[in-house]
Amino acid sequence: MGALFKAGIIGTGSYIPDNIVTNKDLEEIIDTSDEWIVSRTGIRERRIADATMATSDMASIAAKRAIKKANLSPKEIELIIVATATPDNNIPSTACIVQENIGAVNAAAFDINAACSGFIYGLITADQFIASGIYRNILVIGAESLSKFTDWTDRNTCILFGDGAGATVVGRVDKEYGILSRYLGADGGGSDLLKIEAGGSRMPADLKTVEKRLHYIYMDGSEVFKFAVRIMTSASERAVTLAGLTNKDIDFLIPHQANIRIIEAARKRLKLDEDKVYVNLDRFGNMSAASIPVALDEAVESNIISKGDNIIMVGFGGGLTWASALMKWAY
Ligand code: UT7
Repeated sequence: MGALFKAGIIGTGSYIPDNIVTNKDLEEIIDTSDEWIVSRTGIRERRIADATMATSDMASIAAKRAIKKANLSPKEIELIIVATATPDNNIPSTACIVQENIGAVNAAAFDINAACSGFIYGLITADQFIASGIYRNILVIGAESLSKFTDWTDRNTCILFGDGAGATVVGRVDKEYGILSRYLGADGGGSDLLKIEAGGSRMPADLKTVEKRLHYIYMDGSEVFKFAVRIMTSASERAVTLAGLTNKDIDFLIPHQANIRIIEAARKRLKLDEDKVYVNLDRFGNMSAASIPVALDEAVESNIISKGDNIIMVGFGGGLTWASALMKWAY
């Protein structure tokens, strides 16, 4: 069935915790240095949510802001998709908690987990419901409380992550705007490279798993790095080709914010100027599924993006997963 309607983002919002943890702060707790972290990752500081704040709390604030931007009321939202790898609970979904928090009483709600690619997976899922005419207004949120799943004694991972939430409202837009291409991929063969080993049905959490710190994030950084450099470029190029465009038509790239060296490699291969690539990982670190929607909201709020711009969003992460989409900005 062909698309009946064109889907695009009609509002954005985000929430970032106030508490800043700098590289210097990390020097106090692990064997690392500001110089190492900045040169190897580009990260200078990250935000960490306080103990009482869960993923749904950040997601709900971001969602309310996005709904307001879209000039809608929560009751007009028909579906809530929360992309997260760090949900409040296994049951219920974080999306159901957000639905209650924001009063979106007419919305269906579910979570998806595609790790750092989750927001684009959610966006492309929402695109299908809009295109088919099933729903008109869908909240797509990327939200993460990575600090709660981070081993603060593991210098390989704890320097990388931050907490936050970004939300978008996806709705009908005029036919020349909106999502022009979508590309999703996965390689389960790499599932051991980035994982939280314990706490699921394979290895339920118990005293031993906690002692071994298996309920925290494990990552083989250098293997993920090689995959990321390759996939970031190829997935971006794929989004451009699928839209029937060329690299020259790209106005803006919003990449997943994992490592400045990965972003730079992709930028150079795509022959984009530095000011065409949005970077905020120096301030927020890697916020997994939240990183792209937070970057998008910042770019919109600072008027860097204008109506008619061709924007590529591209992400990669645990799974392994990757995803890209090209969108002609609708407002
Ligand atoms: O969003 C999900 C996807 N995740 C990513 O995209 C992350 C991808 N990976 C990366 O960004 C990089 O691999 C890291 C930033 C995680 C690591 O950078 P790297 O250049 O690949 O370093 P490495 O892991 O090869 O480690 C180099 C050295 C090692 O020491 P030796 O064995 O050479 O003596 C590490 O032990 O750096 C050491 N090291 C550190 N030194 C100071 C590792 N972490 C640190 C640290 N501070 N925090």
